[in-house]
Amino acid sequence: GPPDTAAAAPAKIVNVAHRGASAHAPENTVAAFRLAGRQGADMFETDVQETKDHRLVLVHDTTLGRTTDAERVFPGRSPWRVRDLTLDEIRRLDAGAWFSARYRGERVPTLGEALRAMEASGLGLLLEVKAPGLYPGIEARVERELRRHPAWLRPGRLVVQSFDWGSMRRFHRLMPEVPVGLLGTPPAGRLAGLAAFARQINPPYQDLTAGYVRRVHRLGMRVFTWTVDDPAVARRLAAYRVDGILTDKPATLAGALPK
Ligand code: G3P
Ligand code: CA
Repeated sequence: GPPDTAAAAPAKIVNVAHRGASAHAPENTVAAFRLAGRQGADMFETDVQETKDHRLVLVHDTTLGRTTDAERVFPGRSPWRVRDLTLDEIRRLDAGAWFSARYRGERVPTLGEALRAMEASGLGLLLEVKAPGLYPGIEARVERELRRHPAWLRPGRLVVQSFDWGSMRRFHRLMPEVPVGLLGTPPAGRLAGLAAFARQINPPYQDLTAGYVRRVHRLGMRVFTWTVDDPAVARRLAAYRVDGILTDKPATLAGALPK
C-alpha cells in the first residue's frame, strides 16, 4: 500500500548559518560564510544594504560602527551610515579585527563578491533585504546582481527574505522564480493572503507553536525560524516540524538534530 506519510521520517531540517558561522567568525564576512560550510551548515544567511553610490554590500546594522573600524578610519563621520559612505570608502574598513585579531583584513563584502566566493561551496543562500525602506529600488538592484550569477538561481539554492513584506511582494514580481520569505509572525488570518507570493514564513522561535507551523504548511509554505543556538530548543522546534533553523553555531545545531 501507499506509505503512511504521517509516520514517514520528516525531511531533514535545513541548517542555516545566521550571518555566517557568526559565533566563531566575524558576521557577514566571507570568512564566516566559508566557516559555515566547514561547520556543516546547508545554507548561510546574510543581510544586503546599499552604499551611497548604490552598490550592494553585506552588513547587518544600518551603521558600520559595531562591525568595522569606521570610527578610527573616518573620525567625525558618526554614525557611519551604510547609505552615507561610498563603496570605495567602505572598502577601506576592516570588518574582522573587532571580532578577533586573527580575522584582521576581512572586508565588508559586496553581494557579487560573496556570490562569486561561495558559488562552488554547494551552500545555499538566505538573503535578507535589510531596511529596504532606506533604499528605494534595492529590489531591482538585487535582481540585477543575482542574474549575473545564474548558478544561484538553480531551484532550491536561494531564498530572499525581509521584514518588509511589501518589498518582498515587489521582489516576487521581478523574480517570481526565486522563493521569498517573510520575516516576523503574521497573524493566522493573514497567512492565506500572503501565500499568494510568499513561500516561507520566518518567525522568531519564541513565537512558534506546533499549530502555527501546521497552518503555514497547509497553505503550502515553509517555516524557517531564528536564532537558535541551544540544542534543547532546536529539538523542540524539530518536533514542531519546522523546515529550517537559523543558528550562529551550525556545528552545535547539526549535532542536536536528527541526521
Ligand atoms: O533570518 C532571521 C534574522 O536574520 C533576522 O534578524 O536582526 O539577525 O537580521 P537579524
Ligand atoms: Ca538577517
